[in-house]
Parts: sequence; C-alpha cells; structure tokens
Amino acid sequence: MYFKQFLHDDTGCASYFVASRQSREAAVVDPQRRIQPYLDLAEEREYRIVEVIDTHLHADHISGNRALAAATGARLSLHEGAEVLFAFNPVADGDEIRLGQIIIQVIHTPGHRPESISLLLTNPLRSPEPSMLLSGDTLFVGDVGRPDFGGAEGALLQYASVQKLLSLPDYVEVFPAHFEGSCGKGMCGRPSTTVGFERRFNPVLQLSREDFLRSTGEVPARPLNMTAILATNQGQADYAWLAGLSAHAGDVPCVQPEVAPAWLAEHDALVVDVREPSEYAEGHIPAAVSVPQAELALHLGEIPKQRDVLVACRSGGRSLASARFLKALGYDRVANLEGGTMRWIEVGNPVDR
Ligand SMILES: [Fe+2]
Repeated sequence: MYFKQFLHDDTGCASYFVASRQSREAAVVDPQRRIQPYLDLAEEREYRIVEVIDTHLHADHISGNRALAAATGARLSLHEGAEVLFAFNPVADGDEIRLGQIIIQVIHTPGHRPESISLLLTNPLRSPEPSMLLSGDTLFVGDVGRPDFGGAEGALLQYASVQKLLSLPDYVEVFPAHFEGSCGKGMCGRPSTTVGFERRFNPVLQLSREDFLRSTGEVPARPLNMTAILATNQGQADYAWLAGLSAHAGDVPCVQPEVAPAWLAEHDALVVDVREPSEYAEGHIPAAVSVPQAELALHLGEIPKQRDVLVACRSGGRSLASARFLKALGYDRVANLEGGTMRWIEVGNPVDR
C-alpha cells in the first residue's frame, strides 16, 4: 500500500492519494482544484490514478474531481444522493471500491451534507480488518463537521453518523477532509487521529446526546462564496476562477469604529454588510446594503469599483476576508470596519433596524 496525505494550508483541507504497490492503481480522495501535484506524484511513483472520490459536495472550495478524472480517465465516484448535473459513478453504503488488493468500503455518513460518505480502508496483505478511515467532514480531530444546512435534522443525522464511525475498533486511524477551516468550530489542528482517541477525548463526543444536538444544530455563518462554490461543484455554474485567487492577495485598510461615521461621510462611502440576512435584520449601520459573504461572488455587480466601500460584519473577521477577496478582484477602494457592527454599536454609533 502507498498512502499520502496532502495538507492544503490555503483552505484548511486535506486530500488523499491511496494506491496499491502491487497493482499500481491509485485513488485520489477529495482532490483540490490544483490537480498537478496528484499527477506528478502518480508519474514519479508510477501509479495509475483510476479512482477519484469526493466524500461530499464541498461548499468551501472548488473540487478538482472532474478535472482530475478528465486528465487521467479515472472513474469519478460520489454518493448516489449527490445532486449534480454531470455523470458520475454512484456509490451507496456498503459498496466496495477495489485498488488491487486494497478494499475501500463506503460508509454513508449524512449530516454535514446529505451525500456525505466516509471511506474505510482494508489492506488484506496486512490484516483482514480495516486499518484506516477517511472520515470526510463527519469526524474531525477534536470536533465533528457542522451540518451545512444546520438545524435539528442535520444535527440528528450527524449524531447518528458519528456514532456509526465510533463503532469501529479503537486502533482505526482517522484521516479527515479538514484540519482547520470553516467546516467545523474547534478542530485541534492535528492532521490525523484514531477512533479510540476521539471516542475518549473529542470534546464534542463527550457531550450528552441533547447537548450534542444543541451545539451541532446551531447554524454558523455560511463560508465565503459558498453559493458560487457549491453551484460550481454541482456543475450548475462555473466559478472555477475563485480557486485561483489568493486569500492574501492584498491587505486592506482598517477603519476604526470611533471615526467610521466621519470617514463614511467624508468619503461618501458605501457600507456593505456581509453578515447573514437574519443578523442584518437585527440591526445594521444606516444605509448599509446586505450582501452575505456566502453570496458575495454572485453580487459583485452591486459593489462599485469607483467608490469607497466599507465592509462590515459582526466582529471584523468575515468582513476582512470579504474585503481581501474584493481587493484581489481589483476593488482598490475597499476598507474593513475593525471590530465590526458589535464595536460600532458599543461606541454609540447609530443603528437601523
Ligand atoms: Fe465540507
């Protein structure tokens, strides 16, 4: 067996290259948009990439699944429930994908997304029992994946799926699709773990069922450009250019909330509020327009390039990422509201409801 984990610092994602040393067949799991590293590895090590598998439809980065399958002739597998507009090999719970002697067993683990799967690896040359689990965005190191659609139903499904994975033996090594990033809340940062360690020490798994459902059911803000990314990964639109942008393309100036009203007046600036619509409705900066960060790429036409723009969110994190994204697209007159709407209100500035 050959196994390599790729860690992608720009997205907080992990992808995997699994191969049989005997048959020279390889699978790539959750490939990133930049597929050259997988092709280079296959060539260097003389493997043939014959399987491409995504553990789910990603909402935080553009998948390289179709590009890699097209470049290699590999079969592209997704869970049968995946709603996409392109052809793929549908897999279901219990199905097995073979790479020579290696068995990749599909476990349906809905919750993060309805079509989420985990992949259980057995190498019969070493043992008849499975030894590794590619856990997608179901089980993380020190956390579990957030249900993309949130709510009670997502949390219930995620609870059942995590329990299913915890029934595996302690020694099974766990390799998640994220080591940091927006798909979880409290990932530890380590790139791998074991079922036994998580069962004992994962803080979310120590919660009672009720507390797990409560904490997992809270809907966090949707990630930057989620709508465009998901539509691209479903084959409904093509925002693949998003993957080519550097998140750190340009630093943007910050405006302190104390001086922000005067700055806005002086610059005749437009305030763009990138929080979720429900947050905006609870109170926002007067005359601010609402463009949730998840939908930013779809609404670029509403953001002027020739006018100063102040981007605001709750506490300044989402707005900084959004402002940097706009800067990378050539919006040179964009600034970030430091401390967000929270600080804006704290210093006594006016609020519209
Ligand atoms: Fe995800």
